[in-house]
Amino acid sequence: MGEEASRVVMITGGSRGIGRATAYAFAEEGARLVLAHYDPDETAAEETLAVLKSRGIAAESHRVDVSSYPVVTALLNDILDRFGRIDVLVNNAGITRDKILVRMSEEEWDAVIQVNLKSVFNCTQAVLKPMLKQRSGCIVSLSSVVAERGNFGQGNYAASKAGVLGFTRSVAREVASRAIRVNAVAPGFIETDMTAVLPEKVKESFIEQIPLGRMGHPEDVANAVYWLCSDKAAYLTGQVIHVNGGMYM
Ligand code: NAI
Repeated sequence: MGEEASRVVMITGGSRGIGRATAYAFAEEGARLVLAHYDPDETAAEETLAVLKSRGIAAESHRVDVSSYPVVTALLNDILDRFGRIDVLVNNAGITRDKILVRMSEEEWDAVIQVNLKSVFNCTQAVLKPMLKQRSGCIVSLSSVVAERGNFGQGNYAASKAGVLGFTRSVAREVASRAIRVNAVAPGFIETDMTAVLPEKVKESFIEQIPLGRMGHPEDVANAVYWLCSDKAAYLTGQVIHVNGGMYM
């Protein structure tokens, strides 16, 4: 399917931050967008939908917990009933529960693994069946610089994001013969709600480690995700693109 022919694109965590910027990137080509989020309320999702609507884009948003297997199965069945296909999945939903390991609770470990890793399994498995039939599709999952270099207080998060990389490479091998490409993007330190909560001192110490000298914008990451799902990246699968201002090389 050509890029002009209105691809069906699902983005988890699409209400704000990197997911929202990614939705706007796909809006440029006139994609049909299905966004999922699990914010406490609909404020951010409604803002995103309003911007998309003003750009003439058919988009819908669902407040669902993508770490739940039955919830994801039901959502994807509904999407397939109505659209008949799915062309792109962006596994972007993510959370942090930072704590040094000796203080980390079992709940903090489980929550991060469930949302950041189990959701990637849930959504990827659900889209693969139709993609295998179509013999086309693109899947991009959000990892992190922390998967490669670790981070103080993020044992759970780093494990989940390193898990995404191993998963990406394995699934890429399984489905390449059906022309389905599976890749990951590993952002560095990006200006979103996720990093807004960090103390100023911590932010400054991160910025000192970034050769390009600034935090990334959500659009910096969205552009890489979008490019990976374009024909320009037709020969890439099982790869991880680092978008981090040089923080990790
Ligand atoms: P954010 O906190 O601004 O947005 C997170 C999104 O995920 C929201 O839409 C939220 O509703 C959704 N979400 C959370 N739990 C969910 C669940 N159980 N089910 C469905 N949706 C859920 O985050 P941001 O910064 O935009 O991050 C997006 C992705 O990029 C995440 O996977 C994050 O780990 C990753 N990332 C972010 C970095 C940063 O510096 N902001 C750096 C590296 C990776």
